[in-house]
Amino acid sequence: MLDVAVLISGRGSNLQALIDACAEEGFPARIVAVIANNPGAGGLDKAKVANIPTSVVNHRDFEDREAFENALDAELKKYKAKFICLAGFMRLLDARFVNRWKDRILNIHPSLLPSFKGLHTQERALESGVRFTGCTVHIVRPEMDDGPIILQAALAVDPEDDADSLSNKVLELEHLIYPESLKLIALGRVRISGNRAIIEEADYPKKGLISPDLIPK
Ligand code: GAR
Repeated sequence: MLDVAVLISGRGSNLQALIDACAEEGFPARIVAVIANNPGAGGLDKAKVANIPTSVVNHRDFEDREAFENALDAELKKYKAKFICLAGFMRLLDARFVNRWKDRILNIHPSLLPSFKGLHTQERALESGVRFTGCTVHIVRPEMDDGPIILQAALAVDPEDDADSLSNKVLELEHLIYPESLKLIALGRVRISGNRAIIEEADYPKKGLISPDLIPK
């Protein structure tokens, strides 16, 4: 059983997806703590409903990033967490912290990385005119939204979509691939080799997708 701490900053819908997955019989991970850097994070209530211990480590209470991350680290040790899932955790983590937890931090990002790192991903996807967007679960490296990819989910951009409707569609996929990625890791089926994550006994879709659809002959 992999003991996981989930770090959040906001509403925590991905946290909820992880809570629900961990509640399934036989799921190989459990959430030992939910830690927010923001006392108003809605996800804290979701954790409480699920009887998961919560902490707030407010970055505003610390002089600098190092002090904040040391406090975070102490909290993670207190709960004996062995693995971290960032679920809408909107603080950058310093290389020192990331290396201390090397290959033991997972993140979810609402784009097909390495495209559209950072904020406002769906606005930028729409502006850029890409035909596909999606989400990525990856192992965290010191660079923002960077690191070996575990799973990605893609969907075609409907030009009628606005950023909100597209975000909602992507979020549905996030809730599928985050628990699945954690499961693969907890089962020991993921090996990190440089920038790549190799997944044992995985099947890959054989067919490509074209968008928009081809004109019928
Ligand atoms: C999610 O869309 C997640 O992918 C994104 O924040 C949202 C959090 O929603 N994360 C990032 O942009 C990280 N770079 P949630 O609090 O409902 O899970």
